[in-house]
Amino acid sequence: MSNPSLLVLYGSQTGTAQDAAQRIGRQAQRRRLQVRVMALDSYKVANLIAESLVVFVCSTTGQGDPPDNMKNFWRFLFKKSLPVGSLSRLDCAVLGLGDSSYPKFNFVAKKLQKRLLQLGANMLMPVGLGDDQHDLGPDAVIDPWLTSFWGALLALYPSLNSVTPLREDERLPPSYTFHFLDEKTQRSAAGLRSSGGEAPPSPSHPFGAWMVFNRRVTAPSHFQDVRLIEFDITGSSIRFAAGDVVMMRPRNAAEDVQQFCQLLGLDPEDAFLLQPTNNTPVPARLPQPCSVHHLVESYLDIAAVPRRSFFELLATFATNELERDKLVEFSSAAGQEELNSYCNRPRRTALEVLTDFPHTTAELKVDYLLDLFPEIQPRSFSIASSLKAHPHRLQILVAVVRYKTKLHKWRRGLCSTWLASLDPTKEEVCVPLWVKTGSLRFPADSDTPVIMVGPGTGVAPFRSALQERVSEGKTANILFFGCRSESKDFYFRSEWEHLVEAGHLTLFTAFSRDQEEKVYVQHRVRENAALLWDLISKRNACFYIAGNAKQMPASVCDSLKGLFQQEGGVSADAAAQMLAVMEKTGRLQSETWS
Ligand code: 2AM
Repeated sequence: MSNPSLLVLYGSQTGTAQDAAQRIGRQAQRRRLQVRVMALDSYKVANLIAESLVVFVCSTTGQGDPPDNMKNFWRFLFKKSLPVGSLSRLDCAVLGLGDSSYPKFNFVAKKLQKRLLQLGANMLMPVGLGDDQHDLGPDAVIDPWLTSFWGALLALYPSLNSVTPLREDERLPPSYTFHFLDEKTQRSAAGLRSSGGEAPPSPSHPFGAWMVFNRRVTAPSHFQDVRLIEFDITGSSIRFAAGDVVMMRPRNAAEDVQQFCQLLGLDPEDAFLLQPTNNTPVPARLPQPCSVHHLVESYLDIAAVPRRSFFELLATFATNELERDKLVEFSSAAGQEELNSYCNRPRRTALEVLTDFPHTTAELKVDYLLDLFPEIQPRSFSIASSLKAHPHRLQILVAVVRYKTKLHKWRRGLCSTWLASLDPTKEEVCVPLWVKTGSLRFPADSDTPVIMVGPGTGVAPFRSALQERVSEGKTANILFFGCRSESKDFYFRSEWEHLVEAGHLTLFTAFSRDQEEKVYVQHRVRENAALLWDLISKRNACFYIAGNAKQMPASVCDSLKGLFQQEGGVSADAAAQMLAVMEKTGRLQSETWS
């Protein structure tokens, strides 16, 4: 049998699955195999019947959902009309990436493996179950899975045994070469306004929305800066309902872009054309020609904590012995604990790593930039407004992320820091964005009461829901809001007070730090047991939880179970069962983020 051509298809939300897929691609190249690595939705699925060898790498997001860039594939694959046995020529394997702290751990990978089997594919391996919760990260599972995979492939294609693989420290050719042009560019405006048009904006065709205002909603003396930001979406076909989310890609800070260019000796105003060296198409997001400034500001994720693959490639440039030894150690399986303490725990950024390895950084070749740095991933925000209350407008509530690690330096969230830095009173600000259906859904009928628990920025989707529901005459609304202090971070206070006065809202607040002992939303839920029991047991109320406190949703559910026992006189088991039924039937929904 002749050597196969390998296709690696990935579905990736945050880039981990993409990184693993690219790693498989590099391993295949080292074995001198023909290989293509593609996002699932960039691949024409109908062609699968003609493939002979495919590895699927896919993560599981949210409540067991496939990542955005495999949604079309997912729909296609589960079409009833696909004949059983249609993939009988295909040898394949599925590597999953997930988080075992979620109930539907690696749900997508497991379901994919089952479906491929059903369609007649020959599975070379048991499904790989990469786990973010593993102390050493997903690689702890991926490494041995890949070793077995290559073993299985050598058994299937014995001719591969006669190929001497390239050594790990031999550098592969870059995915693209940079052809610099003679003339400099004007800095390309990263947020060019798109025309809108008929089709809804998407990751590849976002809508450039003007920022209308960017307003701090916490007191100036409060430790946390929270912004209410409004965008003008006039002229777009964007529509959304309460619970939906808006997506946008952040840009790197000006000082980081400048430092990066300096370190690598790049002129931000130089312009280049990218030429693929293999089959990987030029990323659609990069204009051709492209300025160095645009590439670094809008595309290369230099502010993220780098992955192991970054160190592997960096090590191949090291000529300084000390630096090389360290980089080789970080790249090795044995050095993962060391890499964790150097990089992951203190959240060290790729840019900081480059400054720690100055000799190697000076040796870097620009052609490798797209191999070294992943693309900046889009971030999602719960939409905080309703089109019914604010036509042609879209608002979000953003906590500007800032924290300290043991590096004693402030760490900043890339997207929230970037958003906070934009000031539409000083210049016109255009942000490319698109909208996605969220996981929270609110009842269509007017009679069903909704009970919403949203401490901090968790209140965002509920503000949207309240605006929408009130405009539709739905007045059975209960909101539990929690923050630290009535005087510092009780945002939207006057809005809630108006709704309460009008009889459209019942509001309960928990100010955690206005008294000695902590008072949280879950305490208020428990205190209002009789009312909530009445609404849930007699009026079929729906219950919602949103927010970013890790323990909060579980504590709120405990309060609910407690009140079921107390008010309903049921056992602990029966209370848990009731909650499970509510969840299953969509009467208990939650959306959490970190
Ligand atoms: P804290 O910061 O005083 O602990 C919004 O962030 C609100 O959520 C704050 O009042 C915060 O209180 C509170 N919060 C923090 N952890 C929580 C938890 N586990 N359950 C409920 N609320 C929590």
